[in-house]
Amino acid sequence: MNLATENWQSIRETSTRRIAKWRQDFPILSTEVNGKPLVYLDNGATTQKPKTVIDAERAYYEEYNANVHRGVHTLSQRATDAYEGAREKVRKFINAPSSDEIIFVRGTTEAINLVAHAFGRSQIGRGDEIIVSTMEHHSNIVPWQMLCQETGAILRVVPINDAGEFLFDEFEKLIGPRTKLVGIVHVSNALGSVNPIKRIVDLAHSKNIPVLVDGAQAVAHLKVDVRALDCDFYAFSGHKIFAPTGTGVLYGKRAILERMPPYQGGGDMIRSVSFSKTEYNVIPYKFEAGTPNIAGGICLGVALDYVTSIGMDEIASHEHELLEYATNAIKKIPGVRLIGTAKEKGGILSFIIDGIHPHDIGTILDHQGVAIRAGHHCAMPVMERFCVAATARASFAFYNSFADIDTLIDGIHKVKEILG
Ligand code: ALA
Repeated sequence: MNLATENWQSIRETSTRRIAKWRQDFPILSTEVNGKPLVYLDNGATTQKPKTVIDAERAYYEEYNANVHRGVHTLSQRATDAYEGAREKVRKFINAPSSDEIIFVRGTTEAINLVAHAFGRSQIGRGDEIIVSTMEHHSNIVPWQMLCQETGAILRVVPINDAGEFLFDEFEKLIGPRTKLVGIVHVSNALGSVNPIKRIVDLAHSKNIPVLVDGAQAVAHLKVDVRALDCDFYAFSGHKIFAPTGTGVLYGKRAILERMPPYQGGGDMIRSVSFSKTEYNVIPYKFEAGTPNIAGGICLGVALDYVTSIGMDEIASHEHELLEYATNAIKKIPGVRLIGTAKEKGGILSFIIDGIHPHDIGTILDHQGVAIRAGHHCAMPVMERFCVAATARASFAFYNSFADIDTLIDGIHKVKEILG
């Protein structure tokens, strides 16, 4: 559907009715910032939390705070059941074959570091190659650079075009007999581009090369099915899908996880320890040393229940409407340039305004109650590719309204009035 030619008024009315009840679930959305109603458009950085998640965190600490996998007492059993129940919810949410393949981590960054350490240091050596793309977040660049420095492996980079699209033909040229891993972002945090993951996986698998997907900006915005994608690893952060910070998931296929050595050593990741021989636990516990973020993991399960009750297709379609509406509106403002105009895009709008620094845009919008992010978005190679030091970025979630976009657009006009 080309929404540019649709009657926005009727789409807007339906959408306003649809999201009104969702918005009520998020206490922060009815607060004020700088004397103005909060318009929260920094969901790429972190999402707000629904009351069910906030209540679940409180309930854990008030009613059954105890360590998991260790105690025979009732509270510990209850905490363990809730924590393992959350693991099963994650499995179902991303359609993984088994909850053994769901590793709880602190976030996407830790997930990728885990793979770089455990897979990287055991399977990648001097002269081997790892492929990423120009549009990666630093968390899918730096761990590989560190690995390359240690091992003598080489990092290859798939370029992007002026719209911010992954150049598949260039990828085909780069992938070769020395490639040992492909690590690609699903949705770019700086550009919004959605990458052709299945096509990338199919090509890599035809050469027996595993693929890691950074799903940080994807998982809250489109349906993720790891079986359909057939990727070997999929990483995401809980806080970007309405769960607490310090939570996240690494999905990995059983066979590859079983071959990998542990990432960190300590309690819970072992079956037995003696000074002559230590045996490691089975997956996923082999990768989960120490007491985890128990409340956080449980709340991640609650957050997934929440988005499932709305439906990922419903969320994706609403955010697509918002993106079309916002893109049309922003393009009409003279002097504004969009950075990232891929055909396949998620709800991320990165832009610059002639002669105005993105931080100033962010500050003036903040005075209007509008929260956006300004900076390099931990994607400095993207900034370099587009010859800018930084961008202003509005990023949407399902609870954003057409009125939020109007306030953003009015705010941009104000920025131009003051500084233009
Ligand atoms: N990676 C997060 C962002 O894009 C923090 O804002």
